[in-house]
Amino acid sequence: MSTQALFPTLVYQARLHFSGWRALNARLLRECLQLRRDDAAGRRWSARHYPGGYTSYGSAHRLQRYSPTFAALARRLDVHVAAFTRALQLDLRSRRLVMTDCWVNVMGEGAAHGLHLHPLATISGTYYVAAPGGVAGLKFEDPRLERFMAAPPRLRSARRAQRPWVTFPVRSGALLLFESWLRHEVSARPRAPRRVSISFNYSWF
Ligand code: NI
Repeated sequence: MSTQALFPTLVYQARLHFSGWRALNARLLRECLQLRRDDAAGRRWSARHYPGGYTSYGSAHRLQRYSPTFAALARRLDVHVAAFTRALQLDLRSRRLVMTDCWVNVMGEGAAHGLHLHPLATISGTYYVAAPGGVAGLKFEDPRLERFMAAPPRLRSARRAQRPWVTFPVRSGALLLFESWLRHEVSARPRAPRRVSISFNYSWF
């Protein structure tokens, strides 16, 4: 007799550790906050779509092309994305997977980002520039949830891999990667400190 796990959902977690990381991270933080000051269109877009926070998703979402600092981050991310695609065993011999979009998120007190996925992308992820203790983590939802028509709930003691939602705590310098179809959210946390992150999509078309 055997019970086997099929069709796994993989999430990649790493810390950006290299000499010069602190300097790069400090430059990224300065540029993220400067962009929020300069980007009036983004602030208007955020007021409608990202209450309590600022995102450049609707206004400046190809920062890897315009900022040498973001381009330096993208080169580091490329290495991790390549490692993740190897873990996923994707066959990328005929087309390259490239970063298509890269944008800034600044979440203030009480800001939340509802459940969503990243259409038109293959691999998505977030790098955490400033995530002090107490900020909300990234919560993933079991992608099969809508098919669980009459399924009993899971045990409270269920293994992590068997739970319907799993939250990854985040901190400065952390990186999370996932397949773009995997739904995720950031819950609101009253009195949470400011959280600055950079999200991105990689695509192969
Ligand atoms: Ni997202």
